[in-house]
Amino acid sequence: MQHFLTVKDRSKEELMDIIKLAVDFKANPAKYSQALAGKSIATIYEKPSLRTRVSFDVGIAKLGGHAVYMDQQNGALGKRESVKDFALNLSCWVDGIVARVFDHNTLLELAEFGSVPVVNSLCDLYHPCQAMADYQTLYEARGNSLEGASIAYIGDGNNVTHSLMLAGAILGVKVVVITPVGYSPDAHLVLEAQKLAAENGGEIILSHNVDDAKGVEAVYNDTWISMGDTKSLEEIKKIFEPYQTNVELMVKLGAKYFMHCQPVYRGIEATDEVVDGEDSLLMQQAENRMHAQNAVLMTLLTK
Ligand code: CP
Ligand code: NVA
Repeated sequence: MQHFLTVKDRSKEELMDIIKLAVDFKANPAKYSQALAGKSIATIYEKPSLRTRVSFDVGIAKLGGHAVYMDQQNGALGKRESVKDFALNLSCWVDGIVARVFDHNTLLELAEFGSVPVVNSLCDLYHPCQAMADYQTLYEARGNSLEGASIAYIGDGNNVTHSLMLAGAILGVKVVVITPVGYSPDAHLVLEAQKLAAENGGEIILSHNVDDAKGVEAVYNDTWISMGDTKSLEEIKKIFEPYQTNVELMVKLGAKYFMHCQPVYRGIEATDEVVDGEDSLLMQQAENRMHAQNAVLMTLLTK
């Protein structure tokens, strides 16, 4: 049985197959309308969500399946009963589990004790479904190719950074990660990404200087304060201000596309001009969440 907890255990071919299936599902949804017929999937949320919650729910319905939404009261894993019992019970009824959790170990436990595929819909370390939608978006924007693609992640080194970096490395993309000092991505994951990049023709570059992103095709942001972070916005703003994405920065870097996983804090990490600009890919990324996730679900549950 396969899970989708991170992208790093997948090959370039497997990730490309997911992107291509997502593109085909987007173009021909009727072809897949019964792909998950008779299947039920529990979607668990320990943290808030707009895009993930709605895109999984609607996406599963478009595949003929049934999503069971478990909110923060009923989806609070390990509180009313252990994660192990949660996984054992859910496996009696559902064909898959999608979970957004605080701690990656919770996903590992769900996968260990449950008997159905588990999909990570965000944890402290990764956001793999986001990365698949992001690279589907870049693939489409570049005329259905990732050959020679380059992207700069600018901001806080976090779960989104890790998945963007790892998936980019496997897909052969050049990923430049620019963060303030003290906010770099996890050092072990950077090493893993650099190894994967060397094997797959990608490149992972780390820097604290935005000038090192010159020449990239796309600039990518996430929020400077992730769910569960405790620093105040005022404190964060002081540290991150030189890293704001605005028109001046886009011009200086020569970057065409602006990407953001959302929610976006307008005027904080990025200005309205770039968020609403002609080459902003935000809504395409949001739409592709559903297509990419459906491709992941079909890969896990029907192959
Ligand atoms: N990008 C993303 O995961 O959005 P939500 O937190 O709204 O699901
Ligand atoms: N890094 C952010 C991503 C939100 C989609 C968080 O974890 O809150």
